[in-house]
Amino acid sequence: MTESPHAWSFRTRCIHVGNEVDSATGAVVPPLHLASTFRQPGAGEWGPYDYSRSGNPTRAGFERTLASIESGCGALAFSSGMAAIHAVTLLLSSGDHILAGSDLYGGAYRLFHQICERAGLGVSLVDMTDTDAVAAAIRPETKLIWAETIGNPQLSIPNLPELVRVAADAQVLLGVDNTFGTPVLIRPLELGVDIVMHSATKYLGGHSDLVGGTLAVADPDLFQRLYFIQNATGAVLDPFSCFLAARGLKTLELRVQSQSQTALRLALWLDQHPRVSRVLYPGLPSHPGHPLATQLMGGHYGAMVTFQIEGNLSQTAKVCESTRLFHLAVSLGAVESLIEQPATMSHASYAKTDRERFGITDGLIRLSVGLESFDDLRDDLQAALVAAGL
Ligand SMILES: Cc1ncc(COP(=O)(O)O)c(C=O)c1O
Repeated sequence: MTESPHAWSFRTRCIHVGNEVDSATGAVVPPLHLASTFRQPGAGEWGPYDYSRSGNPTRAGFERTLASIESGCGALAFSSGMAAIHAVTLLLSSGDHILAGSDLYGGAYRLFHQICERAGLGVSLVDMTDTDAVAAAIRPETKLIWAETIGNPQLSIPNLPELVRVAADAQVLLGVDNTFGTPVLIRPLELGVDIVMHSATKYLGGHSDLVGGTLAVADPDLFQRLYFIQNATGAVLDPFSCFLAARGLKTLELRVQSQSQTALRLALWLDQHPRVSRVLYPGLPSHPGHPLATQLMGGHYGAMVTFQIEGNLSQTAKVCESTRLFHLAVSLGAVESLIEQPATMSHASYAKTDRERFGITDGLIRLSVGLESFDDLRDDLQAALVAAGL
């Protein structure tokens, strides 16, 4: 093996960084440390760990793997993706302004509008694929630009290198939610983004068995400020979930590549389907973000597919309720495929006017494509479209 972990490939780092052999036993899988507190060498003397909110060996292992694969100086594991985004907003003070993408997860929309605004922050939404509009929407009090590397649910692709330039010119922090993109497809810190966030509940964990969130940064001072916020507010990820997330990371590249390949095949099939009016998938040349995704994401386009049927809310619901393999459920990014109706599920917390403004129509269906075979998933969707009378 190469001497320096930095020279190892992405896949090797997912397996070996943060998962060093246990020196006490030789175990090739690091033990799960459930201790809440650690014996100190003396009064007022501190060892590497003292109290598990401030630091825990199992959490530290997961954070080291993540920092390595996101090309950061450090990473922090939170109790959920929302807790991670909330921690970022706590860098701001009353009177500051957040400029967020309009193609945004509903929970982030709710946090910004119903929690941050109450705390005195200004919030406005802008189309992150229109860099000029982003630059024009920055105010003197803007302190944070928040975008998703692949937007939700339109799967829009912002031009990250341009956003980095705009944010740097205005001296505004740029944070991105890389949940849909994953570090397999895009590593925003390498492009100059300040903060990269994940709902670890999704692809990082990958098995629908944990709720967690992460932040990674490249600047040690910013890391210390976020670490302080995390320790002071306490929304840390528990050791067992860290253990599961670290295990999930070992197969991240394989899962994301394979799921993306199946998603592309399904998107191509849906695109030809007579009952489907529109398919939104960055891998299709018809998607506005296709050239940028091809440039930024190394030949894969992710495993989320959104499509539109010519139907009302109840017909759309009927499609979602009629699949057998695609489970009707919120969340995404796991080995089992999921189907949902954004208007009533993931984006239900949007104001109706904003749903209409940002194209979250009644006929929209969002798929999270899992690891099942293409043939089985295609047949499942076809049967559901027929069952809905389409
Ligand atoms: C893109 C995106 N960001 C953030 C979140 C929030 O993460 P969590 O549910 O882990 O709090 C979600 C959850 O669905 C999501 O889809």
